[in-house]
Amino acid sequence: MRLLTAAVTSIALAIGAQVATAAPIEIKFSHVVAENTPKGQMAIKFKELVAERLAGKAEVEVYPNSQLFGDGKELEAMLLGDIQFIAPSLSKFQKYTSSLQVFDLPFLFKNMEAVEKFQQSEAGQKMLMSMEDKGLIGLGYLHNGLKQLSASEPLRVPSDAAGKKFRIMTSDVLQSQFEAVEAVPLKKPFSEVFTLLQTKAIDGQENTWSNIYSKKFFEVQPYITESNHGVLDYLVVTSTEFWMDLDEDIRAELKKALDEAIAYGNEIAAKKGDEDRQAIIDSNRSEIIELTDAERQQWVDAMKPVWKQFESDIGADLIEAAVSSNN
Ligand code: LMR
Repeated sequence: MRLLTAAVTSIALAIGAQVATAAPIEIKFSHVVAENTPKGQMAIKFKELVAERLAGKAEVEVYPNSQLFGDGKELEAMLLGDIQFIAPSLSKFQKYTSSLQVFDLPFLFKNMEAVEKFQQSEAGQKMLMSMEDKGLIGLGYLHNGLKQLSASEPLRVPSDAAGKKFRIMTSDVLQSQFEAVEAVPLKKPFSEVFTLLQTKAIDGQENTWSNIYSKKFFEVQPYITESNHGVLDYLVVTSTEFWMDLDEDIRAELKKALDEAIAYGNEIAAKKGDEDRQAIIDSNRSEIIELTDAERQQWVDAMKPVWKQFESDIGADLIEAAVSSNN
C-alpha cells in the first residue's frame, strides 16, 4: 500500500512538473504590410493583449513586411503549420472559396459603412466558415479601406487606362475589372509592387491610401485617381487543425483578444485613410485626381459588367445581399 501511494505521488509530481514547465503555445502571425497600417497595428495589439492575458500559456510573434512569407505563400505555410495566424486581403482566397470574391466586384459598396454592414450580416458571417472544408477558419474581418488607382500618367476616364499594365492581387475578378477598361492586369505579390513601379515594368496599381503611403508607392507614381472603386479588407484566418486543438479556455481568450485587436485596427483604418491621403498631398510627390460625377460614371459603366461575368461563381443572392447593405 505504501509503495502504491509513493508511486501515485511520484506520478502526480511528474505530471505537475510537466504542466509547470509546458512551453507556451507559439503563435506566429505573418503579414505583408508595414507596421504603421491598420493590419500592422492590429497584429501588434493582438500580441500585446495575449501577452497580458495569457502570460506563460500562449505568445504571439508578429512578422510584418512579408519577412517570413509573401502573400503567395502564407496560406500554404499556414496549412502546413509553419505559421498560425494571417490576415490576407479578401482578394487572395480565390483558390479556397469563390464566395469571398464578392468583395472584389467593382463599385459594389458605396462606403465602408456598407462594407461593415455586409460583413456583419448573416451572409457575411456565413462566409467566415466558407473554407472550413479546406482546413481554414475565418475568425473575423478587418478593414483597410477603399482602393484608389495610381499610375504614371493621369487617369480620368477609362480610356486613359487602355493598354497600361496594372499590378493586381491574385483575383480573377480584379483581372476582369482591368480588362473591362482594356488595361493589362498582372498578378504579382505585394512585396514586388514598389520595384515594379519604380523600374516602370508596370504603369500602375490599385490600393488603399495606407498601403500607397506606407509602401511609398506615391513616390514613384505621379498620379493617384481617387476612384474608391473597390474595397481592400482582410480576413483573419487560422488553420482548423491548430484552432480545434487548443484548450477551450485558451481558444476563447484568443478569440476575445483578437476581436478587441480587430476593433482597434478598424478604428485605425477609419482614421488612417484620411491621414495618409493628406500626407501624400503634403509630400507634393503625387497629384491626387478627383473625378467629376460624369467621369466617375464612365468607370462605373465600363467596369460594372464584371458583376454579370462572376454572378454564377459568386451567387446572385450573395451579390444582392451585398448591394442591399448600401441602404
Ligand atoms: C495587396 O496585395 O495589395 C494588399 O493585399 C496588401 C495588404 O495586405 O494590404
